[in-house]
Amino acid sequence: MNEQHKYRSTDKMSDLICDNYSLLMVMSRFGLSLGFGDKSVKDVCEAQGVDCPTFLAVANFISEEQYSYRGNESDFSIPALMDYLKRAHTYFLDFNLPAIRRKLIEAIDCSSTNDVAYLILKFFDEYAKEVRRHMEYENQAVFTYVEQLLQGRLSDEYDIATFASKHNQIDTKLKELKNIIIKYYPEKGNNNLLNAVLFDIFNCEQDLATHCQVEDYMFVPAVAHIERKLKNEP
Ligand SMILES: [Fe+2]
Ligand SMILES: [Fe+2]
Repeated sequence: MNEQHKYRSTDKMSDLICDNYSLLMVMSRFGLSLGFGDKSVKDVCEAQGVDCPTFLAVANFISEEQYSYRGNESDFSIPALMDYLKRAHTYFLDFNLPAIRRKLIEAIDCSSTNDVAYLILKFFDEYAKEVRRHMEYENQAVFTYVEQLLQGRLSDEYDIATFASKHNQIDTKLKELKNIIIKYYPEKGNNNLLNAVLFDIFNCEQDLATHCQVEDYMFVPAVAHIERKLKNEP
């Protein structure tokens, strides 16, 4: 990464986190754990066997307003980025969405007389299923394709542009769920639990949107670059 970026490898890791706490998620998805004292980003990454340029590229992408892939292969490593994306999938599917579901059940009145509560839960389950389909497709089809590409093998049937053209935004349904809760859930005396779930849903929505942006603006162009190279295109 060069000087024009927000964060550099010589910055203290703790300063990055305090500057933008959503980088905590990025850290754990790279497999970095806390407790790094005053170490720099580079030293923390090295000590924990994490590819520093890729971590910084994602951290900068998330924290900067705009990004364009410069066709520079040394900016980040595709395998490290795939690893990050896979871990993010595991986080959403096995941790975040189940946690939101548990909180939802706790917050809404699930007795059979409450139609809105039933609708909310049903809507959530359909949504979670959709996210699972989306992410499992990426884990299985897309990442397998890219792994072969990295070994120099192109495919006749598939390319990254095909993936990109169908890469639908998965946060739309979550917006609808949020609206159902906000607009139609019958008011009770105390809404603390429900508000807490709403905060989680807002966070998840943002997190998913950012995840998709990393795929669209970092991963896809970097893979397209490899494809062009293998096809000897400029
Ligand atoms: Fe993904
Ligand atoms: Fe995706």
